[in-house]
Amino acid sequence: MKHLLILFGLSALTTVISGKSHCHACFDSICYSKARIFQNYPISGQLAVDRVANVVYFHYEDTQPLDHTVAFDLHDIRFLNIPGIQFSFARAVDQATREAYIGGANGIYKYNPITNVTTHFALNNKTIWHMQFKDKIYYTIFMTKGLYTYEKKQSKPVVALKDYTIDDFIVDKRDDIYFMSNFTVYKLKKGENKVTIFSTIIYSLTTDINDNAYFIQRDTRGLYKIDYRTGRLTEVGAFGSGSPFRTVFDNFNNVIYYDGNSDELFYLTPNYGRCKVTDEGKGRKLKKKVSSYFDSDI
Ligand SMILES: *[C@@H]1O[C@H](CO)[C@@H](O)[C@H](O)[C@H]1NC(C)=O
Ligand SMILES: *[C@@H]1O[C@H](CO)[C@@H](O)[C@H](O)[C@H]1NC(C)=O
Ligand SMILES: *[C@@H]1O[C@H](CO)[C@@H](O)[C@H](O)[C@H]1NC(C)=O
Repeated sequence: MKHLLILFGLSALTTVISGKSHCHACFDSICYSKARIFQNYPISGQLAVDRVANVVYFHYEDTQPLDHTVAFDLHDIRFLNIPGIQFSFARAVDQATREAYIGGANGIYKYNPITNVTTHFALNNKTIWHMQFKDKIYYTIFMTKGLYTYEKKQSKPVVALKDYTIDDFIVDKRDDIYFMSNFTVYKLKKGENKVTIFSTIIYSLTTDINDNAYFIQRDTRGLYKIDYRTGRLTEVGAFGSGSPFRTVFDNFNNVIYYDGNSDELFYLTPNYGRCKVTDEGKGRKLKKKVSSYFDSDI
């Protein structure tokens, strides 16, 4: 953290001195600066954050090709190798115990960051596609319809979703489920059996530190969240460049995201410059443009 603090401290200082601010992203009219966490190899699968230690888990494949499941400690600024598992795709962290659930080709593994030991946990013959931990594990299976939960050594299907092929999903603070299927976002309200169409725009989905639901439009670079008073989407802001692909929120509710254009993993921190987001182009060519109030060279 020290290095990042020095880095961000310096850039904040420069900002004050020169009156310029780097707006790599603009959320709620505040500029964010990006710092690179990882580059050189494409990463795949989900990102997950242990918000107690502020560690982000991910997977990459090198040129050999060899699979690596690793973590980056944002607090101590260092990489960690996760022992006992190479390939993985799905990832979720139980914030109460800090245990990371990691979906490999053969079921779910559990990594304990305190003992630094990975053990096989559940579902030994299934390839897990996507996971989220909220009181229990929610998961989908590769090339298989439906959403399932796992707790107390038991798997159960979410009955209302058994006919949907689910590409991405989240469970928010109200235990409502939002999921992408067939290029459409659907919603299943807690306790209901009827699925409704939420949006026909393609988003990637994530939740923040308080389990608020967020939606990222990769092509336009827009970031949206649910306004829980109206149940509708509201624009939070936009990423300034690239193609924000997978996004997670860390312990300070700052965004960590994978840029699908450059294959780099970034960490955004507020630098408190002011900015605005405007639309450029139309329809499929629409892009969000981030500009600082003080300069035009972003
Ligand atoms: C955990 O074990 C792996 C493999 O032995 C090692 O590379 C890594 O540095 C260890 N991590 C920590 C946090 O001690
Ligand atoms: C998968 O595992 C379950 C339980 O461990 C077992 O009942 C089932 O037969 C296995 N399926 C395959 C295809 O190996
Ligand atoms: C996906 O949506 C398209 C049009 O929106 C529809 O024609 C098609 O039948 C759907 N596919 C499935 C598998 O539901």
